[in-house]
Amino acid sequence: MSGRTTEVACPRPPGLATGPVYLDYNATTPVDPRVTEAALPYWTEFFGNPSSEHAYGGEPRRALAAARAQVAELVGARPGEIVFTGSGSEANLLALRGAVLAAGAHLVVQATEHPAVLETARALARLHGTRVTVLPVDHHGLVSLDALEAALRAGAGRAVVSIMAANNETGAIQPVAELAALAHSRGALVHCDAAQACGKIPVDVGALGVDLLTVVGHKMYAPRGAAALFVRDGVALEPVVYGGGQERGLRAGTENVALAVALGTAARLAADDLAAGAARRITALRDDLHRRLAEALPGRVRLNGPAEEGRRLPNTLNVSIAGTRGDRVLAAVPSIAAATGSACHSGIESPSPVLTAMGFDAGRASAAIRLSLGRWSTQAEVDTAARALVAAVLGG
Ligand SMILES: Cc1ncc(COP(=O)(O)O)c(C=O)c1O
Repeated sequence: MSGRTTEVACPRPPGLATGPVYLDYNATTPVDPRVTEAALPYWTEFFGNPSSEHAYGGEPRRALAAARAQVAELVGARPGEIVFTGSGSEANLLALRGAVLAAGAHLVVQATEHPAVLETARALARLHGTRVTVLPVDHHGLVSLDALEAALRAGAGRAVVSIMAANNETGAIQPVAELAALAHSRGALVHCDAAQACGKIPVDVGALGVDLLTVVGHKMYAPRGAAALFVRDGVALEPVVYGGGQERGLRAGTENVALAVALGTAARLAADDLAAGAARRITALRDDLHRRLAEALPGRVRLNGPAEEGRRLPNTLNVSIAGTRGDRVLAAVPSIAAATGSACHSGIESPSPVLTAMGFDAGRASAAIRLSLGRWSTQAEVDTAARALVAAVLGG
């Protein structure tokens, strides 16, 4: 195949040295050793509080500003529009709760959002009486303009609309720019959870036309606990943490400089990867894995999510193999680490709510396996995974 460019130039994280083939990059990514190296001095040497006026505050303050600029650059924002948070879930909470309490009367989300959005919507309804509309998706997992239009027509007062850039389970890429334009024409505020999209595909807040956008470090080779929210200038939000006025007063607490530096470095590396076309290498590997499964198991491999180029994340392959259960297949293949439903739900046996919302029956949903590739995936790993999965299905 033309895309057999399997060599990865960047250093491999020690955590991948042994253990099963890692095909769960959408759950979390290993930390890039270059990210660790950049962040470490802010735990060891430069420990100062960035707000301190004395000498110890200087370097942390400079590093925090540089990290903010790097995150801003990845998404086409200005540095002052980036608010660091402690997780993607927290960024989503700041966006939704913050916007609804500051400005919105009606919250519109869609059915395959991450629980960090759906549960926040439920909590706002329960605690604040917020009116919530959940938009349906089609069998590719995509929201239609008509559904959004109808929801905005039916709602009273200013709406806050939250649509993810790309789905964590299927990789489906929503038509965010079109939906945001429609929402804005009706006076709504628009949030986009770009946790899975940032670093995998170009994300630009100007091109998308969104007011708020979530960036998550541990989906792009920074550690867990490092995330940010883009807040367009002039958008008023109720803070998520009250206190000393850090992060424009939206999220108080002495800044975690090391994690900010990690996120900033990861954002810079992601931008470099995108510019260098790294996604093409990953797409080729992913499609090779898909082709091998489909050829070895004729008529049994069904893709969950859009097949169309540009409508699905380059690294994500979610398939249901007819006549199997995803959890049993994966249990039979300890040589690979992959997921069934959302990783955030692992342990819960019910079929994936994402696939259920896409209209798939329980059989198809429970047969699903999500194979997500990343920076260190190789052709040899794809070969191993394809062989092991096919053997498990045919032998089981
Ligand atoms: C689409 C999406 N949004 C939000 C999150 C939550 O991010 P965090 O784990 O940093 O809270 C995730 C993580 O799984 C995700 O995939």
